Amino acid sequence: MNSWSSVYIYYISGTGNAKISSEWIADESRKRGLKAVVQKIDRLENITMPDPAERPLIGFAFPTHGFNAAPIMLRFIFSFPKGLSKNIFLLNTRAGMKLYKIFMPGLSGLALILPAFILRLKGYKCIAFRPVDLPSNWIPLHPGLRQKVIDSIFVRCEKIVRAFAKKMLSGEKVYRGLYSLPVDLLISPVAFGYYVAGRYFLSKTFIANYNCTNCGICIKECPTSSIKLVNDRPYWMLSCESCMRCLNHCPEKAIEAAHGMAIGFWLLITFINAQFILILIKLFKIQPEAVWLKIFTQLLILICTVFVPAAIYFIIHYAMGFKPVKYLLRFTSLTSLPFWRRYFPNAKR
Ligand SMILES: Cc1cc2nc3c(=O)[nH]c(=O)nc-3n(C[C@H](O)[C@H](O)[C@H](O)COP(=O)(O)O)c2cc1C
Repeated sequence: MNSWSSVYIYYISGTGNAKISSEWIADESRKRGLKAVVQKIDRLENITMPDPAERPLIGFAFPTHGFNAAPIMLRFIFSFPKGLSKNIFLLNTRAGMKLYKIFMPGLSGLALILPAFILRLKGYKCIAFRPVDLPSNWIPLHPGLRQKVIDSIFVRCEKIVRAFAKKMLSGEKVYRGLYSLPVDLLISPVAFGYYVAGRYFLSKTFIANYNCTNCGICIKECPTSSIKLVNDRPYWMLSCESCMRCLNHCPEKAIEAAHGMAIGFWLLITFINAQFILILIKLFKIQPEAVWLKIFTQLLILICTVFVPAAIYFIIHYAMGFKPVKYLLRFTSLTSLPFWRRYFPNAKR
């Protein structure tokens, strides 16, 4: 039987899903007479650690990003001090959907396995982990779900999370995250690609359109301090984790994922890559089938994926001072379509 006297839950949440899940668990903990502390890790600032004398159970709640834990949570876990307690638990929120009456799950990839492994190396024992399929907030990929669908997903997930908390707090081990292990391992190369390159590419697809009033909410709210004013308009830095907080919370709906620009970036990366490889083949008379050339090509794509969009984005940002550029970016963005909903969950941050 466990002997915890408190539960500390550290969370990061772009649009509130991981936060509300943390609160449901805290609520169940309090019902059992435990002290519960829910602590956000935005900007990795002002974070209080538990006193080991309290015998705390420590939890980590975070969204899944690119089949992995959100990068800021991975950094937090990497630097998490050793020896604060014996037991930890993990909860990842994923992209839940509902098709007709069927609830569709997201995919975890390494989101649970990797943090559990890192914390194990630090001496913590993971007693429970599970994914929760709250509504998807990945708005550049699809319009926000309808409110009715959001509500029904919330009702279902609240029950799931509370049941998870009850089991865990009564001392049962809950390894629900292991159910999809084969698929999770299969997609782990994508998680790697997203972590080393994909997320940097995505950070350079956000723009503030001409409805932006420079109110500063996006800058103030960004959990990684990745938005700054450049040339009097919001500019997304490479440290942006695409958590979707800015895009979903802009009161003017002025933040767009610029799909046209993203396609342009991708065409440019492919072109640069192909030309560079052709030059190499001609100059050094390399066999196109050489294995090392294939590895080099992949590496080059990863490097270009980070640096080409970053450089062009900087130029485009200034070019947005010109109306035609501004209009072109806006009207080649799917998020500007009138029916493209944002995601405003029930959970207030
Ligand atoms: C950039 C990005 C990547 C995502 N990757 C995944 C993923 O790999 N698997 C998944 O199930 N959901 C993925 N999602 C969806 C979110 O994890 C999901 O909507 C989550 O519930 C959001 O939680 P939050 O509101 O606490 O940020 C992704 C969302 C974004 C914005």
